[in-house]
Amino acid sequence: MQEGTIPLTANIPTLEQLLALAKGHTDAEGRLDGTQMSLPVVLRVSPDSFKFKPSAHSKTASPDSKESNDSNRRNSDAESEDVNELDFEYNHELDPETHTDQQRHDHAVLRLAAQVIATTQFPVGFPTETVYGLGANACSEAAVANIFYAKGRPADNPLIVHVSSLRMARSVSSDAAVLGEGESAGAGAGGRATYGALLKRHWPGPLSVLVPRCERQIPAIVTAGHGLVAVRLPAHPVARALIGLAQTPVAAPSANTSTRPSPTRASHVRDDLRGRLLLLIDGGDCDDGLESSVVDALRSATVPPELSPTSLQTTPTTAVIPHRIPPCLLRPGGISIEMLRKIKGFEDCVVWSPKLPSANKNDTIAPVTPGMKYKHYSPNVPLVLLESHQDETLYSKQQYREAISIAISARISAFLEKTPTKIITSPATIVILRTLSQSDFALNLPRSLPPQVTILQKSLGDSTAKVAHELFAALRDCETLYLNCLLVFIEGVAEADEGLAVMNRLRKAAGETIFFHE
Ligand code: TXA
Ligand code: MG
Repeated sequence: MQEGTIPLTANIPTLEQLLALAKGHTDAEGRLDGTQMSLPVVLRVSPDSFKFKPSAHSKTASPDSKESNDSNRRNSDAESEDVNELDFEYNHELDPETHTDQQRHDHAVLRLAAQVIATTQFPVGFPTETVYGLGANACSEAAVANIFYAKGRPADNPLIVHVSSLRMARSVSSDAAVLGEGESAGAGAGGRATYGALLKRHWPGPLSVLVPRCERQIPAIVTAGHGLVAVRLPAHPVARALIGLAQTPVAAPSANTSTRPSPTRASHVRDDLRGRLLLLIDGGDCDDGLESSVVDALRSATVPPELSPTSLQTTPTTAVIPHRIPPCLLRPGGISIEMLRKIKGFEDCVVWSPKLPSANKNDTIAPVTPGMKYKHYSPNVPLVLLESHQDETLYSKQQYREAISIAISARISAFLEKTPTKIITSPATIVILRTLSQSDFALNLPRSLPPQVTILQKSLGDSTAKVAHELFAALRDCETLYLNCLLVFIEGVAEADEGLAVMNRLRKAAGETIFFHE
C-alpha cells in the first residue's frame, strides 16, 4: 500500500445510502455543514483498472483499435496519424468476458461517483496526475457554488473545467476552432489563435488553456464572470474515466481548503475537508505533485487595434502593422515554459508577471490571474524560504555551505531570542527541507541549542522533478509528523524546467524569505 493511502472500503454504498449519510448535516442550501465527521466516504480504486478506446465519434475508432491506460504517456502516440488519443474515451460497459474482480469493483465505484456528479449538487474528491481535485458538474451553477463553499474559496477566483475528450472540450468553448487542429498554433499576427499543436503534444496532461466560454453550457460562476474559461483534459485514468462516465464537464479546483497546500494524497483531502465532502475517490499518490500550467494564447484577440503599440507609433499615412501579443503562461506547472516554447506558435511565450503590460487597457492586471492575489499553499507552521542571491551553480560547494549555514544559524538564533527557552516546554523540532543536489553535504548549524530543540534535515530529492513531487506532502508532514514543529526552512531551486513552478509555489507558501550570498 502506498504511503498516505486509506485502506480499501469493501462495500460500495448505493447513491441513496450515501445521501442518507448527509441527512441532518446540511444547511438551508443543502450544503454539508461540517458536522458529519464520518464523511467523506472514501473508496479506493486502482488507476490500472481503466482502459481507454477511441470513442465512436473518433475518426480512428475501429473494433480492434489499440487501448490505452498509461497516464504518463504524455501523448507519445498523438503525433502518429492513425491514433488520436484526444478522442479516446473510457469504455462505459465492461466486457463480461475479460474484466477482473478489481475492475468490476473500480468501475462500480466510479459509476457511483459519476452519479453523484451528474445528479446531485455534492462535489466529489478525485485524483488527477497533478493534485487531487474537488469536482462538480460544471454546467450546474448550484453544484459549482458548493465547490466554492466547501473550500472556502473566494468567488472571484475562477475554476478549471475538466473534460474527458477533445469533443467535450469543444463543447465548453463558444469558438470550438481555437481548440482545433489549426495549421498554426499560438497567437498569430492578425490571424486566429489556436491551441491545436499544443494540445496535440501535451493533452491529456497537466495543461489548462483559456478558451472563450460557451455561455449556454458553462455558467458565469465558473469563470467568476470572465469571458475565457480554463479547460483541461487530465491524463490520470481515474479522472478521465470519471468525467467520461459523468458525461458532463467537471469544474474542479485543487481539493484543499483555501490557502492550504494542494493535496497530493487522498489523506490530505480528507484532513482538509472532513465533514464537508460526501465522497472521495482514492487513486493513490499523484504522479506530478504540482498543478497544471495555465496558458492564455488568445490575448491578441482582446487587443483593440488602436491599442496596439505599433499602431500608436504610426502616423495616419503609415500602414498599421498588426501587433502580435505573445501567448502567456499564467501559472507555471507541469508543462514548463521550455516545453511550451518548443511548440510552433509558442516560441515567444512569456511568463506572466505583474510587470507585463496589460493586453487590454480596460483590463486591470488582476483579472488575468485572479488566483495570484490570494494567500496560497501555506502550511500551519512558519515557513522560511532560502533564496540564493546568485546562481547556485557559481558557488563552490564550500561557499554555498557556508553562506546557507550562516543564514540559517542567524535566523534560528533570532527565533530563539524571541521565543525564550522556557516557553518551549516540550520537545520541539526545527526542520530544514533540502532541495539541491548539494544536499548530500552537511550544513554547519548552531551547536548550542536548548536541549529540547532538535534540528531535523530532510531531502526532497536531487532533481527539481522530485522536489515538485514531494513539496506539498512535505509541507503537510511538517504539521503532523514532527514533534512541535517551530520553524521550517526550505532551500530554493533554480528556476529552469520544473523549478519555475516550484519557486512560484514556494514564494507564495513562505511567510518569509531570506536572501543569502557569499
Ligand atoms: O492541476 C490542476 O490544475 C488542478 C487539478 C485539480 O486539475 N486544479 C487546480 O485548480 O489547481 P485551482 O482552482 O486550485 O487553480 C486554478 C488556477 C487559479 O490560479 C485560477 O485563478 C486560474 O487557474 N484560472 C482558472 N480559470 C481561469 C480563467 N478563466 N482565467 C484566468 N485564470 C484562471
Ligand atoms: Mg488550488
